[in-house]
Amino acid sequence: MYKCLTLNNLFSYILLTLKCIFAEKFIMAEELHIKAGTIKSEIYENLIPQLKALISSETDLTANLANIAAALKETFRWWWVGFYLVKENELVLGPFQGPIACTRISNGKGVCGTTWKNASPLLVPDVEKFPGHIACSSQSVAEIVVPIFDSNNQVIGVLDVDSEKYDVLDETDLDYLEKICKLITSIL
Ligand code: SME
Repeated sequence: MYKCLTLNNLFSYILLTLKCIFAEKFIMAEELHIKAGTIKSEIYENLIPQLKALISSETDLTANLANIAAALKETFRWWWVGFYLVKENELVLGPFQGPIACTRISNGKGVCGTTWKNASPLLVPDVEKFPGHIACSSQSVAEIVVPIFDSNNQVIGVLDVDSEKYDVLDETDLDYLEKICKLITSIL
């Protein structure tokens, strides 16, 4: 009887420990931990492993893109951040955070369509100076668009970031947003 109780206690203890570990993992996956007051590259270095953890446990692309858009918006408070996905030879609006946006963009049109056509990222510090820029929102003055490739090097969509300030988006953002798009490639 005594032995049996001890084994039961041990079993309960192990169960409780496992529950705590899972609970902690669950909470960590649902909350971002961003250190305030750090420089931009450090914020990205801090954020990217969390994004990796967040998307590695989910196979649905829409769910993962939605969480990446939310995490970027929560971290950087940009005006607009989201995805356009290639569908039947057009870019179609995907998961995003921010005001409503244009739903379809043709190949070679605007910053997004040009990024898709050239399969190359674009940093546009002043959208007024980009011929053919599509103004989904008059508040947006600067933009970064990064292509997302599949494993055959085909562009399957773009990540688009818009700022309402001129001095916010730079090469550091471009570099790290490319890393984030490579993360997406790894889960396709
Ligand atoms: N400005 C983009 C259109 C998309 S919105 O900014 C969300 C472009 O020129 O392609």
